[in-house]
Amino acid sequence: MPAGGFVPREGKAYPGNLTPFVTITCIVAAMGGLIFGYDIGISGGVTSMAPFLKKFFPSVYRKEVEDTSTNQYCKFDSQTLTMFTSSLYLAALLASIGASTVTRLFGRKLSMLLGGVLFCAGAIVNAFARDVVMLIVGRILLGFGVGFANQSVPLYLSEMAPYRYRGVLNLGFQLSISTGIVVANVLNYFFAKVSDWGWRLSLGGAVVPALIITVGSLLLPDTPNSLIERGRHDEAVAKLKRIRGIDDVDAEFNDLVAASEESRKVKNPWRNLLRQKYRPHLTMAIAIPIFQQLTGINAIMFYAPVLFQTIGLGDDASLMSAVITGCVNVAATLVSIYGVDRWGRRFLFLEGGIQMLVCQIIVAVCIGVKFGVKGDPGDLPKWYAVVVVLFICIYVTAFAWSWGPLGWLVPREILPLEIRSAAQSINVSVNMIFTFAVAQIFLTMLCHLKFGLFLFFAFFVIVMSIFVYFLLPETKGVPIEEMRIAWKNHPYWGSFILDDKLPAGAGVELDKNG
Ligand code: BGC
Repeated sequence: MPAGGFVPREGKAYPGNLTPFVTITCIVAAMGGLIFGYDIGISGGVTSMAPFLKKFFPSVYRKEVEDTSTNQYCKFDSQTLTMFTSSLYLAALLASIGASTVTRLFGRKLSMLLGGVLFCAGAIVNAFARDVVMLIVGRILLGFGVGFANQSVPLYLSEMAPYRYRGVLNLGFQLSISTGIVVANVLNYFFAKVSDWGWRLSLGGAVVPALIITVGSLLLPDTPNSLIERGRHDEAVAKLKRIRGIDDVDAEFNDLVAASEESRKVKNPWRNLLRQKYRPHLTMAIAIPIFQQLTGINAIMFYAPVLFQTIGLGDDASLMSAVITGCVNVAATLVSIYGVDRWGRRFLFLEGGIQMLVCQIIVAVCIGVKFGVKGDPGDLPKWYAVVVVLFICIYVTAFAWSWGPLGWLVPREILPLEIRSAAQSINVSVNMIFTFAVAQIFLTMLCHLKFGLFLFFAFFVIVMSIFVYFLLPETKGVPIEEMRIAWKNHPYWGSFILDDKLPAGAGVELDKNG
C-alpha cells in the first residue's frame, strides 16, 4: 500500500541503473506487501478449521457441527470470531498515524525495522496462542507491523527505485499483496491436513517474511531523500552514486534538495488540504478507499472458506476454492499492470464495476433461490456451489484489475507535493477504518441480510461507478505538473480550481516547475 511522502519532480527522467541495491530493496519491499496479504488471507482459513474453532470458539463450533437446524447464514455469526480478523486493521490504523512521524524524523529504515520486529512478535504470539486473548494480542501486534511497514516500505521503494520503474513498482506492491493472500490460502489448504495443530503453522508462517523484512531493514541503506531531510547532504550524494551505479547524479540530487526545501515550506498541510482548490483531491482521498472496501472484496478475501462452507462445500473444497479465488486475484492484478497505462483508469474502473455488479446479482439470486430467507438449502447439488464459486471468481477478477490496484494508485497519483503526505495519510486511514468495519460486521450482516448482502454491496458498486463516470477525470499518462489541467477542464471540478497563487507561507505552487 503506497504511503505518503514526496517524490521529486515527476515527469522527469534521471539516469540510473537497476543495481543490486535496488533489486534487494524490491525484494524486501515485496515482503512488506506479502505479509500484509498473508494476514488478509490467513484468518478466514484458520477460522474454518475445526480444531481451531473447537479450541478458541467452542460455541461457534457447536453451532456449526452439532446443531444441524441452525440457519446456514448465521453459522459463523460471532463478534469475537470477527474480532480475531478485524483487530489487525484497527491496530494498523493507530500505528500508521505514529509511523508517519517516525518515518519522517528517524528515517524509513527504523520504521521498517519496527514493522519487521512487530510482525515477528505477532506471528510468534499467534503460533503459540493458548486462548483468545493471545490470539487477538498477536493480531494487534501484526496490525502495528502492517501500519509501520505500509508507511515506510512503499515510500522507501519509490525513493530508491530509478524514476522509470516507479509506476510499475507502485502496482507491484498490490501484486505482492495478492501473492501474500494466495500463499496464505495454499498454506491453509495443506496445513489443515496436519493433525490438530496445522493452524499454528499457518499463523506462525508469517515469521518467514517478517524475518526477511527485519534483517533487510538492518542491511539496507538509508534513502538519499531521508538523508537530505535530515540535513546529511554529503552522505546523500555518495549514497545516490552507489544506488544508481553512476557518478552523474547531480540533476537528481539538486531536485531532491529542492523538493525537500519546498515541502518544508508547507506550514500546515492539514489546513492546506481544506482549501477549496484541493476539494477534488480531498474528495478522492476519502471516497476512493471507502468505495474500494464497499465493493465487498474483503468479504471474500477474509471469509472465503467460511462463505464457501456456508453454501455447502466441505472443509477441503472450501479451502481449495479459496486457493482458486486467490490465484484468480493474482492473475487479474497482472492484467491491470499490463492495461492501466494502455486502457486508462476510467475504463478499468467502469468495466470492473459492471462486471462486479453482474456477478453480485447472480450470486445473490443463486443463493437466494436455494437458501431462501430461512437459510435452509435442503439437498444442494454440487454443481450449484460450483456455479457460485465461478461467479465469485469472475467478481474477484473484476476487482483485481479495477478497484484493487487503482484504489491505491489513483488517489496517490493525483496529489500535488504540498498536500501529498497529509492526503495520503487520510487515504490509508480511511481504507483501514472501512477494512476494519467490513471485517467486523460481515458475518453479522450475512446472518441478517442473508443473500441480500450481495445486493447491498452491489448497490454501492452502482454508486461508485456513477461517481467515477461523473467525477473522476482520466489521469492516464498525465504528469503531475499537468494534473491541475485535468481538474480545471472537468465540468464539475473546474470551478473549484482557481488560477490563484497560494499566499506566502501557506504552501507551494507546483504548476510551472513540477
Ligand atoms: C485492498 C485490500 C484487499 C486486497 C485484495 C487491496 O487493494 O486494499 O483490502 O484485501 O486488495 O487483493
